[in-house]
Amino acid sequence: SVFRLAAIPGDGVGAEVVAAGREVLDALAAGSGGRFAFDWEEFDWGCDHHARTGRMMAEDGLERLRGFDAIYFGAVGWPTVPDHVSLWGLRLRICQSFDQWANVRPVHFLPGVRGPLRNADEHDLDWVVVRENSEGEYAGLGGRNLAARGRGGEVAVQSALFTEVGCERIIRFAFDLARTRTRRKVSSVTKSNALQYGMVLWDDVFRRVAADYPDVETESVLVDAMAARFVLRPQDLSVVVASNLNADILSDLGSALAGSLGLAASANLNPERRFPSMFEPVHGSAPDIAGRGLANPIGAIGSAALMLDHLGLPEEAARLHQAIHTTTRAGILPHDLGGTATTRATTQAVITALT
Ligand code: NAI
Ligand code: MG
Repeated sequence: SVFRLAAIPGDGVGAEVVAAGREVLDALAAGSGGRFAFDWEEFDWGCDHHARTGRMMAEDGLERLRGFDAIYFGAVGWPTVPDHVSLWGLRLRICQSFDQWANVRPVHFLPGVRGPLRNADEHDLDWVVVRENSEGEYAGLGGRNLAARGRGGEVAVQSALFTEVGCERIIRFAFDLARTRTRRKVSSVTKSNALQYGMVLWDDVFRRVAADYPDVETESVLVDAMAARFVLRPQDLSVVVASNLNADILSDLGSALAGSLGLAASANLNPERRFPSMFEPVHGSAPDIAGRGLANPIGAIGSAALMLDHLGLPEEAARLHQAIHTTTRAGILPHDLGGTATTRATTQAVITALT
């Protein structure tokens, strides 16, 4: 079969890591003996597009993306455009318009990579952070009284939105995922002692849904305590489900514990498959290292593996994970992991390990 894929490299290292991921995917397809192929279309949206047109993406961009089997995304953000404008104008626009309500972010050790948990065992870190991706703190609700701007008395309101439907679907998603894993456990994260409406609703829904999964171990943990748990007892966790903001923060911490933000992969899923899902590394555009061949492509390549799974190619996804393991086990590590391999050298090593 031929899969139609949209590539949106975006800004900064996004272009470098998307090129790397595409190369790896094309190598897999070339080796498939014609079983599957990828038909790519690339979109040059991002902050340069904004400089030319005043928009982060084409006006009919969503219409153009809608027919693809999946979207492969790099990163968005550059100092020329305010971050809230670039993020909302491209990435959040796609996530919210295509109802990609489940953001899945696996966190695990790679062979030969430990990060700050130096003495940890290979199995001590093996989680999936499941992030509510459609509402919560990133619902975009609120405003500023700009009339008062510059007079020192301005007030801004930023509301979080929690719906029973939104909480229930992401929590069920987490439980269903837990059932596919060796360790059947779901840890729910809120700050429901301080945020007494939305997050108490979340906790209520969590308790109710948990009753449908008696075979899955559960716990509810406050986000501040969970940040400490991540570092002190990582081996106690399997699936961690949290709201948009909390999971955003926790998953960056998780990827740092795994060794680097550059390793972290993610899938923005529309589980009903009414719209295309989007696959992207967790990291941003990394302006501090962009354009120098230093970017770690493993987060983007891991995201390509998540995309293969979604496209119904689980064996190829597993092969790709193995190839990443072979690469790091051989000590081929990019700069963020203390090695000297360039983006290109790391990518080539993964391709070599595949064939
Ligand atoms: P960042 O993730 O771009 O960078 C944070 C640190 O991690 C930097 O020191 C960077 O060099 C390093 N890093 C990130 N990716 C790496 C990789 N692949 N290999 C090696 N090192 C890597 O986050 P930052 O600096 O807060 O934001 C930069 C821009 O990216 C901003 O405009 C921000 O809004 C945007 N951003 C976009 C995201 C997205 O598109 N999903 C996510 C996070 C930030
Ligand atoms: Mg983040």
